[in-house]
Amino acid sequence: MAARMLAARPFKLVSHLPSMHASTPLFARQISMDAKGFASRLVDAGLLRSQALIGGKWSDAYDGNTIKVHNPATGDVITTVPCMGQNETNDAISAASEAFSSWSKVTNVERSKCLRKWYDLLISHKEELGQLITLEQGKPLQEAMGEVTYGAGFIEFFAEEAKRVYGDIIPSPLADRRMLVLKQPVGVVGAITPWNFPLAMITRKVGPALACGCTVVIKPSELTPLTALAAAELALQAGIPPGVMNVVMGNASAIGDALLASPQVRKITFTGSTAVGKKLMAGAAGTVKKVSLELGGNAPCIVFDDADLDVAVKGTLGAKFRNTGQTCVCANRIMVQEGIYEKFVDAFTKAVQKLQVGHGFSEGVAQGPLINEAAVQKVESFVKDATSKGAKVVLGAKRHSLGMTFYEPTVLSDVKSDMIIARDEIFGPVASVLRFKTEDEALRMANDTNAGLAAYIFTNNVQRSWRVAEALEYGLVGVNEGLISTEVAPFGGVKQSGLGREGSKYGMDEYLEVKYVCLGNMSSK
Ligand code: SIN
Repeated sequence: MAARMLAARPFKLVSHLPSMHASTPLFARQISMDAKGFASRLVDAGLLRSQALIGGKWSDAYDGNTIKVHNPATGDVITTVPCMGQNETNDAISAASEAFSSWSKVTNVERSKCLRKWYDLLISHKEELGQLITLEQGKPLQEAMGEVTYGAGFIEFFAEEAKRVYGDIIPSPLADRRMLVLKQPVGVVGAITPWNFPLAMITRKVGPALACGCTVVIKPSELTPLTALAAAELALQAGIPPGVMNVVMGNASAIGDALLASPQVRKITFTGSTAVGKKLMAGAAGTVKKVSLELGGNAPCIVFDDADLDVAVKGTLGAKFRNTGQTCVCANRIMVQEGIYEKFVDAFTKAVQKLQVGHGFSEGVAQGPLINEAAVQKVESFVKDATSKGAKVVLGAKRHSLGMTFYEPTVLSDVKSDMIIARDEIFGPVASVLRFKTEDEALRMANDTNAGLAAYIFTNNVQRSWRVAEALEYGLVGVNEGLISTEVAPFGGVKQSGLGREGSKYGMDEYLEVKYVCLGNMSSK
């Protein structure tokens, strides 16, 4: 393993971090850490990788093509990574397929130990991984380190679950037969992951896949490949054998098509947009692969008159502004009952005003940049549509003075259900507040969407909390809590928000086939 690490091409900084900061005055002014120390710590730990990983070997694109990775806070190019396509993906699939024959036979205890070691390494490099996430994704450093804890948690959890892949013995209705059920790994998994959680969306898929004995080809987002490569490096250091975990990136449609076309890939797992999820589902039909999809949401956050105002404000703030509003479970429609509406909007706006916007490495920052210009333009168009149809700007509603992809934390009141902002996923720091009169109306509004990922309710009425939680057509419901994601609970949506569950014991089922074995001629003498 050490030899492979040494042989690997070192990280190629297109604009080296310290000078990058020096050439970016605003960034240099705001940065509160030792940039030089930061870069060298990452290099020392072997965590700055700019090649893909195929069969345990770090690799460039076969035609030498590269793509640039940008820092969304400054627009600077951090480095380049290979721009791969069909050929490299096919080789990664072959490597995963070859590794499957041995990894699937490794004892569950051995698999568990490898995963546990990987977890330990992820945690011991929490700071460096957090810095890498902030660098390529933009989220504030504290939040980025929180993602490392969250993401590593999936590896720890599934290291334990590896030991619990139980089958069943079925009481036989026939005297001469014995019937049993085995759970076996599905095979090679294609894991396509998004940019908003560059680590956690990988570990949430790869943890259970590896625990079950599957091998994986990961395609991280081209916007945030560096965290994926660092995690892969740590997986190698943890003793996860070559070929068990492969990482390719570049031409998304070529890679996706190769994964879909290959009969060796037995499962596709994807987190991202509903539109892409539908295409993958259709594409997987050709070879009848298992599919799990974590797609877009349109989360209602319902604040009833009987809610504790402080709890509702704090919970809604977390549910809306986590990751600068860029999560699938972010509160998209804050629906407030008329008796508490004015008080809530007032208190919530005061809380939003306190959110400090800035570069993720700056002290005290709670809101980073959006991922790119297209994301800002989308937010702007949603706000324009809402205000043109009667929504009121209570706060923000414009780009932040920092420029680039920074947008002011925004509160819009008097939003109506037919506005785009209430129908589509905002994925930005804009809180849209709607008004309702009765519980029935709130439920009708909340369920009037094709999405069904997360919903939140704030109420002090126990009966109502049960009643409404049961009636909401969503995969996750937070009651008096806005931050509910955890490795120990199932994550996933209903309706067009997806298929399958990630995390928790249910997350294992997605990577297992059920085999029925019938033993005949078993009559006793
Ligand atoms: C996502 O936005 O896709 C994931 C959010 C979470 O894990 O809480």
